[in-house]
Formats: sequence, structure tokens, C-alpha cells
Amino acid sequence: MSMPIPTYRQIRRLPGWLAWTDYELLRTLVSHQNLTSDAPIVEIGVHFGKSLIPLAGFSAQRCLYAIDIFGDQHQNIDRSGYGELEGFLANLDRFGVPRNRVFVDQRLSSEGQPGDIIGRVGRVGLFHIDGGHHYDAVVSDLDLAVATCTDDAVIVIDDVFRPEWPEVSEAVFRHPALREHGFQAFAIGYNKTYFCKQAFVAGYQSVLRDNDALAGHLSKTHRIQDRTLLVYQKYPLPEWPVWRFANWALALWQPGLYDRIAPLSGWLKPRLKRLAGKPVPGPDPEQHGAIDASPLDVRAGDSSAARPT
Ligand SMILES: C[S@@+](CC[C@H](N)C(=O)[O-])C[C@H]1O[C@@H](n2cnc3c(N)ncnc32)[C@H](O)[C@@H]1O
Repeated sequence: MSMPIPTYRQIRRLPGWLAWTDYELLRTLVSHQNLTSDAPIVEIGVHFGKSLIPLAGFSAQRCLYAIDIFGDQHQNIDRSGYGELEGFLANLDRFGVPRNRVFVDQRLSSEGQPGDIIGRVGRVGLFHIDGGHHYDAVVSDLDLAVATCTDDAVIVIDDVFRPEWPEVSEAVFRHPALREHGFQAFAIGYNKTYFCKQAFVAGYQSVLRDNDALAGHLSKTHRIQDRTLLVYQKYPLPEWPVWRFANWALALWQPGLYDRIAPLSGWLKPRLKRLAGKPVPGPDPEQHGAIDASPLDVRAGDSSAARPT
């Protein structure tokens, strides 16, 4: 029997880093993969399991391969968070993840060879890179990911585009591994970027677009040459009025409440603008290459997608 899927409310109390948007993107992508694949999930940088435990819940019986130096923190040269094996194992038990579903590989990820992973669990369906955040570590993790993934795999990379960790972005865009193996970015979440091979972009983007709970967090559909990228993130700007900061913070901290009041705000906002004598533009569903007005504009309907809790 499968373990219960932990809600975001349960997960957010764990030490670590996982925004609701990325929780929901992962849930949607893994559930879609479950229909046709039982390929394992690998995570580099497990910490206390804040992302691996929901991944276990989303992925039914699929095997999990967890890499972290845990207690060997003298090897953590960029101090990207301090993992702890006992805390991680206790969290597995607490959330009902059977220990025999998870293979724990306690060492530097750069010491791992593709054969170690493939030999133990097989080719990988989703590979999450969130370990060392310096250039050489990310390069080595990318090489490991592309060498172990299935054709339809998703590679998820934490902290790309994040100014605090410029070497992550540098490695992702300078090192040729992703490009040479045909991986391209298809979505940007709150703090993770999602890659897959070109033949699978349309399928993964389609399930993301079908998720109504995510629709209110889609800030932009960006076109790069002939490619499309779904962007579920937006950085606040000093030019924003206060209500827009409040709206942004609400979506980040209280996604459930945001989701419930968004339809009301979508109705209210153009009326407030009209009252203030400002122009109210018509809807532009694609918004190619342009930053949209506000996440409050996007909201409608009911769906089977999980509501934020
Ligand atoms: C940012 S934390 C991971 C957060 C985690 N994914 C979560 O969901 O909260 C980074 C983790 O990577 C581990 N780590 C750092 N450098 C590493 C390396 N070179 N190889 C393996 N693990 C590493 C750290 O011990 C830490 O637990």
C-alpha cells in the first residue's frame, strides 16, 4: 500500500527549503510520470527530507536514491545547508516512507558513479540536484544526472537564477552536459528550474497548464526563439504599490488563502483601477515576453488539482 501524500502544510514545518509552487510542480510532474513509468527518483542534497518526503508521497512505489554527506560537514565547502542522517530517517518514519524504498548514499555526490545509481535502482525518472552549490559540485551533479536519466526524465535544479548562488547558474548555463544531452528548461518554479528533453516538453507543460491551482501562480509564458518556458516566479520590485507586495507575500506564505480570494481580487482590481482613473487593459492569455500585471488576474474554475493547504 502507498504511503499517504503529505500536504504542503505538513511539509512546510520541516527544516529545509521548499516553496508551495515547487511542491505543486513536483506533484504534478511526478503524478504524470506515474501513469507510464516507475523509474526511480534521485535527490542530491537531502538535508532533513523536505523535498524527498513529498517526492516519496507523489511517486507511489517508485524507488528513491538519496545522496548527502549528512554528518560529514567538513566536506560541505560552500555551506549550502547542513544535512543530518538521524533527522532525515526520523522524518521518513514520521511520514510513513518505508525505509526499504530509500537507498541512502552518504558521501560527496562527486564520488558517485552512474553505475552506482543504475546498478542499485535503475535509470532515473526524476533527478533533483540540491547538494553542493559551487561550480565543480554542480558540474559533477549535472554529469551524473544526464548519465543516469531515462529519455523522458525531468531534471530539477535548485537555486538556478538565485543571486546568492551565482555558481549554480554559471554551471547550468556554461557546462555543456544538459545541452549536449538535449535537455532544455521548460518551467521555472519558485526556486527550482525544470528540464527535460525536447520531445517531452509539450507533454509536461500541458499537465502543468491543466493544473488550476498552479494557474494563479503562473506569472509569465516566455518565448525563447522557438521554445516556450512557463515561469511560476516573480521578484518584487521597488516600483510595486503596497497592495502588490501584500498580494505576492500572500501567494508565497498562504497559498491556500490566496487561491480562495484570487477570484474576488480579479473582480475587484479592474474596478479599483477604473475608480483611480487608470487604463484597464484587456486580457492577454499568452503574455509572450512581457511581465503580466498581477497574479490576481489569473483565476478561474474548479479542478481536480490539489488546492494549497
Ligand atoms: C540546500 S540543502 C538541501 C535541501 C533539501 N533538498 C530540502 O529539501 O530542504 C543542501 C544539502 O546538500 C548537502 N551537501 C552539500 N554539499 C554536498 C556534496 N558535495 N555532496 C553531497 N551532499 C552535499 C548538505 O549536507 C545539505 O544537506
